[in-house]
Amino acid sequence: MCGIVGYIGKSHNSTEVLLSGLTNLEYRGYDSAGIARICNGEIEIIKSCGPIVNLKDKVNYSKNSNIGIGHTRWATHGVPSIENSHPHKVGKTTIVHNGIIENYLELKKDLNAIYEFKSDTDTEVACALLDNLYKECNDMLKAIQNFQDIVRGSYAIAILSDDEPNTIYVIKHMSPLIIGVGDDETFIASDVPAILEYTKNYVVLNDGDYAKVTNDGFKIYDSNGNEKKYDVRTFSLDASSIGKNGYDHFMLKEINEEPEIAKKLINRYIENGEIKKLPSIKDCKNVTIVACGSAMHAGLIGKYLIEKNIEIPVSVEIASEFRYKQLFIDKNSLVIVISQSGETADTLAAVKIAKEKGAKTLGIVNVVESSIAREVDDVIYTEAGSEIAVATTKAYFAQVLMLMFLSLRDKDLDSEDFKSAHVDIDKLIHRDEIYDKIAKKIHEQNDIYFIGRQIDYSLCMEGSLKLKEISYLHSEAYAAGELKHGSIALIGDGTPVFSVITDESIAEKTRSNMKEVKARGAHVILLISEDLDYDGDDYDEKIVIPAHQEFLKSIIAIIPLQLISYKTALLRGCSIDKPKNLAKSVTVE
Ligand code: G6P
Repeated sequence: MCGIVGYIGKSHNSTEVLLSGLTNLEYRGYDSAGIARICNGEIEIIKSCGPIVNLKDKVNYSKNSNIGIGHTRWATHGVPSIENSHPHKVGKTTIVHNGIIENYLELKKDLNAIYEFKSDTDTEVACALLDNLYKECNDMLKAIQNFQDIVRGSYAIAILSDDEPNTIYVIKHMSPLIIGVGDDETFIASDVPAILEYTKNYVVLNDGDYAKVTNDGFKIYDSNGNEKKYDVRTFSLDASSIGKNGYDHFMLKEINEEPEIAKKLINRYIENGEIKKLPSIKDCKNVTIVACGSAMHAGLIGKYLIEKNIEIPVSVEIASEFRYKQLFIDKNSLVIVISQSGETADTLAAVKIAKEKGAKTLGIVNVVESSIAREVDDVIYTEAGSEIAVATTKAYFAQVLMLMFLSLRDKDLDSEDFKSAHVDIDKLIHRDEIYDKIAKKIHEQNDIYFIGRQIDYSLCMEGSLKLKEISYLHSEAYAAGELKHGSIALIGDGTPVFSVITDESIAEKTRSNMKEVKARGAHVILLISEDLDYDGDDYDEKIVIPAHQEFLKSIIAIIPLQLISYKTALLRGCSIDKPKNLAKSVTVE
């Protein structure tokens, strides 16, 4: 949520680095953007509303600058506007910020006597506080230490000071921040992709750390003001892994990567009819899965699979709820957290709480070395590669695969069936004709419903979320048996209802519910696995999912739903990779 980038060095013009970094960080927010660069000792701030391309249009590229900071915003305090966008400058201090300063109103009351505020943001208040603290001691490192004692909340901040035109200061607390290490140049970023074009080497800052970055390199201090030693890590992917590779959208590219991901993970974890290289979870008393958004939907599938295959009780909690509720977990509990980014603030907080309660924590995470990956006791990487589209597809798919493997850890499997799955997944992706037809049918509707039972209900929840987040169509998922307890009142002539049937044990039951909606005029789109397929008059369209062994055939049923969402959003002219109001990495509560 909000992306930060910074540059200091002789090899590049800071403008070029900042704008390219912001472009790669746009998945974190795109309400507005801005940069502050120092040209001939003077700070120049340029801001614009909307995506980074608007900022690019405003910038004079011929100016030479070797130091600057930049920001792409996902609005929290105040509407997206020039006044509210970053960088903010107060007195001699200019900052960009990712996070939330929780006590900003309190602080603003005191600072109002000294400064005139121009924006509605918490960031401008943080900037004023820093400036005021700096005025008191004329030492930015001291001011930062005092700042950390006063503010509450989460923050990754990059700072420029009029008095030190060759220095960037940074602070990190509960929002991600890295320092990129180049030859005679240093980068600041929320995330590695922002600087991958320039360097693969980086240092991760920990909560409470702050740093002074100059042309001679950087020094990192811990919250007590002691200089720290650090490890320089090397990122394993290169810049080309975050390109579109000829696809019109990242979302489409990422869906098309699913067969390869399936192949890679199946080959890695399934050997001679057994799951290898994963921890056994059968000895824990209970499991709680905690996550947000699609990762939480993956967790619902995990619940079904673990209960069915390992026979231990599993509860699934939305991370933002989990962190404030009465908990019944102890040292015999396992808390599984699922996160693509590994940075989601609520999920990260959940890990810390689970650990405090003595539970064992296991992360299913995509981004290597992310905050959640580092915080959990044990981590399984989903290895889906960089996911750029805000709406997750391949990372969700990899999460459910890993949950399936975890649940089958102590079972005998049909390896051959698994090993051939990627071919069918690939074929399923390329059935454009039926997906186009369905997208055409639903793209002008107002309300769309998804029904299913058990694992199919969890798939429906993800299918429905995918559709609403990128096409802005209203859609809801219901447990098929629940629909008649009120919501069936909304079904009328032509209302699209997706019905998902991949689980044999409840196939007949869901069919009955389909008949109920069909009888009320619904346009029923049936997704059914090949082994359960039938000819009937209770559906209008049908997508047949290739037959595979139990569970595997279910989880691949998400692919047509992802593609139908994509094609529907396309027909509606929506911004596919960057849907309105959303961000990929949600680092605020
Ligand atoms: C955001 C994204 C979703 C994602 C959720 C959790 O809302 O737009 O696609 O499922 O965050 O993110 P995580 O990185 O923890 O999986």
